[in-house]
Amino acid sequence: MEPTEITPEMVAEKKAYCSFKNFPKNKPFLDVVKDDPILFMTHCLGREPWTWQYLVLKEYMAGKKRIGVCCSRQVGKTKYLTACLNLWRLLFNRGWYESESYRNSKQFTFDGIISMTEDQSMILIDEMKEVAFGGDTYMQRYKDAKGKPLFGEKWITSQLDLRKSTMNQLVVKKGKYSAITSSITKSFAPTGKVRGSTFTGLFVDECAYVDDYIIEDAAIPAVQAIGSYELYVSTPNRPEGFFYELIDPDDKKDDYDYVRYMFTIDAIQHDDPEYYAKVKKRIDEMVQDGKVNKVNREYYCSFVSSDETYFPIDKVRETMDNTIEKRSHWRDGPVVVGVDFGGKGKSHTVITVSTTPDRYGVSRRIACWRYPVKQDGDVIADIKYNILPNFQVKDIVVDSCAASQIAIQNMKRLGWSVIEFEFTRKSKPDYFDRFRSRISRKLSVSYPDAALLEEFNGFGDDLKPMKKTGTDDMID
Ligand SMILES: Nc1ncnc2c1ncn2[C@@H]1O[C@H](COP(=O)(O)OP(=O)(O)OP(=O)(O)O)[C@@H](O)[C@H]1O
Ligand SMILES: [Mg+2]
Repeated sequence: MEPTEITPEMVAEKKAYCSFKNFPKNKPFLDVVKDDPILFMTHCLGREPWTWQYLVLKEYMAGKKRIGVCCSRQVGKTKYLTACLNLWRLLFNRGWYESESYRNSKQFTFDGIISMTEDQSMILIDEMKEVAFGGDTYMQRYKDAKGKPLFGEKWITSQLDLRKSTMNQLVVKKGKYSAITSSITKSFAPTGKVRGSTFTGLFVDECAYVDDYIIEDAAIPAVQAIGSYELYVSTPNRPEGFFYELIDPDDKKDDYDYVRYMFTIDAIQHDDPEYYAKVKKRIDEMVQDGKVNKVNREYYCSFVSSDETYFPIDKVRETMDNTIEKRSHWRDGPVVVGVDFGGKGKSHTVITVSTTPDRYGVSRRIACWRYPVKQDGDVIADIKYNILPNFQVKDIVVDSCAASQIAIQNMKRLGWSVIEFEFTRKSKPDYFDRFRSRISRKLSVSYPDAALLEEFNGFGDDLKPMKKTGTDDMID
């Protein structure tokens, strides 16, 4: 599949469609925008879509309810397409309206949006609120004969139920255009929480960066029963997995019962030349820095894996020191025990033993246990019977996440010195930078360990294993 080229003619056509001059006058204003997200965005929110967004929304209006869009970064996936379309669906109860099978039951919209992180899922709900407030102001321009605002001062936000809305969900009250009860859009971080919901529609932002099992085992089952809308939007990622199969850039399938699109950064050049020039400048700088694969992936719809390993492999090799031995017993100095729980899915629980930094700041990794996937029932017993008697343990550092809370409580109850380590998506880059710097300076060293070297070798500059089958548990 080739990316769709957006020509000046297409932009002109879109502009004509959106111009108020051409707004259908044979129906009440709200009845028109109720059925047209493009005109709603333009004339209620004051946010005219760019042409690629217009094309996607046109497909949607034509009844194509399963759509995959592979596109560039920074082209309005989140603030425009996701936030505006989903606000429209919520305000006008589209989840019910568009679902044949659901019509006679509860009659409200319950849409799910999956974003890439917890933070982004909250930002998205915020964004939807911001769009709504902006719409209030925009709609004040429509005046009646006496010069009063036709739709009042707050046509949009007066319909939101801000009391029931939270960081993760936006609720619309019952009303003339909405449902007989309230409707909800819920925004999720990609976790198992998605499971167990029943959606009238599903939007996945940055789909290629969400684990396949969340989409395939939780999100799709949640939308399949009564859902009438699935939109998967993303910049590309590695050439495998759900989003890759959906977009199928090499056209390997014979036919498709859904719509696919690709848009590079060039898609917006005629919509907003000034903005385009700015992004383009940044792209040129990245190319000059040798980040060609990254540029192709993030701006030109190419499913290429990261070409750079995050850790300098030569330096990593130098940190594997033949004079350090792997130990099962060593009591000549204090050590720190690190525990990273595997938790969900395919990751392993790992326990690492390292010496505390010596006077040169050097810390030596002298033991490591990697548990089989989903089998970490004995971590506490193993520490108690195999580690504590054999090492002079100063502290136990545990990755503090939802899955490790019970273990942490139990360790504290046993009187162990536990340090909780917040290794979140937000803090990760910073810790990794410090770790990389320690490796380059040979401050973190280890006994020779081929399995660990392999993890380092396959660890990409997006802080993930470059291959789907790769692991990073020991690095963590
Ligand atoms: N139709 C539009 N009209 C005007 N500005 C737009 C439009 N669509 C997007 N933008 C602007 O483009 C910028 C990028 O938007 P947004 O963050 O939604 O893009 P994105 O594709 O989600 O980016 P990222 O790849 O960083 O997640 C924002 O400044 C937004 O205001
Ligand atoms: Mg985005």
